Amino acid sequence: MGFMHTMNNTAALQVAPASRDGFSSRFGVLAATLGSAVGLGNIWKVPYLTGANGGAGFLLIYLLATLAIGLPIMIAEITLGRRAQSNPLTAFRRVAPGSGPWWLTGLLGIAASFLIIAFYSEVGGWVFAYVLQALRGTLTSTDPAVTQAAFERLTRDPAQSLFWQWAVLLLIGAILMAGVTKGIEAVTKRLMPLLLILLIGLCAVSLTLDRAREGLHFLFAPDFHRITVGTVLVAMGLAFFKLSIGMGTMITYGSYYRADQNIPATALRVMLADLTISLLAGIAIFPAVFTFGFAPASGPSLVFITLPAVFAQIPQGQWLMSVFFILTAFAATGALLSLLEVPILTFQELLHLKRRQATLLTLMLLVLPSAGAALSLSTLSSWRVAGLNLFDLFDYVSSNILMPLGGVLLALFTGWVWGAERLGNALSNQGRLSNGGLARAISGLLKYVTPILVLAVMASGLGLLSFLGA
Ligand code: TRP
Repeated sequence: MGFMHTMNNTAALQVAPASRDGFSSRFGVLAATLGSAVGLGNIWKVPYLTGANGGAGFLLIYLLATLAIGLPIMIAEITLGRRAQSNPLTAFRRVAPGSGPWWLTGLLGIAASFLIIAFYSEVGGWVFAYVLQALRGTLTSTDPAVTQAAFERLTRDPAQSLFWQWAVLLLIGAILMAGVTKGIEAVTKRLMPLLLILLIGLCAVSLTLDRAREGLHFLFAPDFHRITVGTVLVAMGLAFFKLSIGMGTMITYGSYYRADQNIPATALRVMLADLTISLLAGIAIFPAVFTFGFAPASGPSLVFITLPAVFAQIPQGQWLMSVFFILTAFAATGALLSLLEVPILTFQELLHLKRRQATLLTLMLLVLPSAGAALSLSTLSSWRVAGLNLFDLFDYVSSNILMPLGGVLLALFTGWVWGAERLGNALSNQGRLSNGGLARAISGLLKYVTPILVLAVMASGLGLLSFLGA
């Protein structure tokens, strides 16, 4: 009961202890959260997955998954984090003491974060390497065979792969050591607006190209023939990945939210801005790809092989290419900050470490998994599980298994254990906002709809329901 008393004492819980770092302004909250959502996903995943799965039909399913599954989970995670004022492992215990081993959800999230950082930092490394090459003008060939060879020189060279990955990881670690306000918030507040401006500039150029219409048609005209259960799983996994949910990132960032922040409004804004940036990336990419006669569905190599060849055909293409990879590097930075923050905050609070020590520990624990991803195209290319190399395995397991599973557990916890009343109280900033109906709707969704939907899609997508003919 003593705990309940504290829970109802808004001043005690909502004002973070002076020792707890957090986001200082409303715009800072928005920029940091958007910085987490916007990432390589928008530029590297959404366009190629859209391309590979038949264009706009896929986008539509992704949009549905984002609205029906992603947004409620995102809101619940942020609210849980802000209420608990803690890392994702402690959060479950703190808001519902004695409710069972729900903290295992947090543990699952930490495990997922290491897998994601491992492959994500590798792609981030390629992006930073490409920024340099684009600026120096060494990437300018209109022949995809040449740009492919350049990409393979980078990815098949163990030393280069490791070098760029660790350059990125150390940069992110340095920003994180500066703190939440002075590191994460300060950096994302500057990078996010810049990213948007650069992207809009690229779209303007791309739309003036000859066959821009074909690119737009590809992106926006639905083709439902290509949609299968597997496609739905991929779209749902993408919704989790895009909104950074299902593994504790939003719980972690939620714990830095201001007490007066309108959480549902912020989450909706982030989701819409993130979607806009994905579509803008598609608008920047596909008209150019079609104009110069390339195939849109060319897999992850779209960004690193096709695009450099495309840019090389456009006047001033070298500068446009530099802009493109710089904005992609900005996107990767904001996302990686949020990914590493999960283990860092957890180690800081559970092991009573200083921020610097927690950051160093996280980086040390990353040595093995990140090397696994970095070397998966060279030294370790023969290490395969179910036909996937380590890089693809980490990506597949995190997006299609760990994050949806984390999402289901979080939905069950919020709906059944934490409960509509306590969720509603936290969501309304203790009654200061009138969004009670929204809280009940979210709670109902999380209780019944989300778990069944996510589990069904997971099971069929993973082939577990094949006996039903699904
Ligand atoms: N949302 C980011 C992107 O689309 C990636 C990301 C950042 C992420 N933090 C995450 C994915 C947490 C899953 C979980 O690129």
